[in-house]
Amino acid sequence: MKLKMMYSFLNSDINVIEKKLEETIQSESLLLKAASLHTLKAGGKRIRPVFVLLAGKFGHYDIEVMKNVAVPLELIHMASLVHDDVIDDADIRRGQPTVKAKWDNRIAMYTGDYIFALSLELMTNINKPEAHKILAHTMVELTVGEIQQIKDKYRFNQTLRDYLRRIKRKTALLIAASCQLGAIAADVEESIHKKLYRFGYYVGMSFQITDDILDFTATEKELGKPAGSDLLQGNITAPALFAMENEEIRLQIEKVHENMSAAEIEHIISLIKKSGAIEKSIALSDHYLDKALAVLEDLPTNKTKKTLRDIAKFIGRRKF
Ligand code: IPE
Ligand code: IPE
Ligand code: MG
Ligand code: MG
Ligand code: MG
Repeated sequence: MKLKMMYSFLNSDINVIEKKLEETIQSESLLLKAASLHTLKAGGKRIRPVFVLLAGKFGHYDIEVMKNVAVPLELIHMASLVHDDVIDDADIRRGQPTVKAKWDNRIAMYTGDYIFALSLELMTNINKPEAHKILAHTMVELTVGEIQQIKDKYRFNQTLRDYLRRIKRKTALLIAASCQLGAIAADVEESIHKKLYRFGYYVGMSFQITDDILDFTATEKELGKPAGSDLLQGNITAPALFAMENEEIRLQIEKVHENMSAAEIEHIISLIKKSGAIEKSIALSDHYLDKALAVLEDLPTNKTKKTLRDIAKFIGRRKF
């Protein structure tokens, strides 16, 4: 089943979110508007707003309230992608040129900042200090995660634990916050919104591990973004970490540097693929996915629960 089919009952509300996203990024600055609109129109799975809405279904759901949380969560994600493509020097995202490629790094920096700021402005419609605290904390952690990744580049003695801490910050916490904030906006009681947070955290871990596997196994055409560049750029992810358990492969991986030839890096990537590291990474992703599904079992039964289960399974094992 396609992702969009899983939440088709939310279609009219998703349309509200799309309209609000477009309305929000209007700007007097034609450049900021053009760069933001370009990123928005390129598409994306919109899974963070979908999680916000689904979590809201556990409480008093009003789309006019929910949109003030769902839109900021997608905006924070979008802003982080615009910045991430500067950090990762990526020219393609969502099948389109990135802001940094179409314009330049400086404009990508401003555009990301602008979109971040818009998200905060829109969130002021939510009159709950707790929600703002969670959002602010998530943004701080996300930034620390991305910076940590820069610090950890080509650091071959890092551990799986270092990696997990980094992906928790840069990816999982935003998905956790999407689930929790959606619930809080709908006045869901604390014991339940905390569980939704845990669910989102586990799904987010599985999601980023899968993204890191796909960087080894998928193509740019399938992903709509560059593939095979994490290792060359010194971003040591789960497949490389598992492959380094083998001493011979470790010695090869430790030779990776920025200016390595395509043939050399392809050889190392093929060693990693043959080492069983991809299978171990899939098992790690599944471990988090199983934890997410176990948390779901503990939530009140409703129609939404099944949708959350389907989406979690889809994104933990996605092919794009
Ligand atoms: C990409 O996120 C960045 C990661 C956290 C892996 P998505 O895969 O959700 O990107 P879009 O929004 O669908 O483009
Ligand atoms: C996720 O990491 C990016 C953020 C959480 C901002 P990646 O660098 O792997 O994301 P992609 O692969 O470019 O989408
Ligand atoms: Mg990155
Ligand atoms: Mg990237
Ligand atoms: Mg990636």
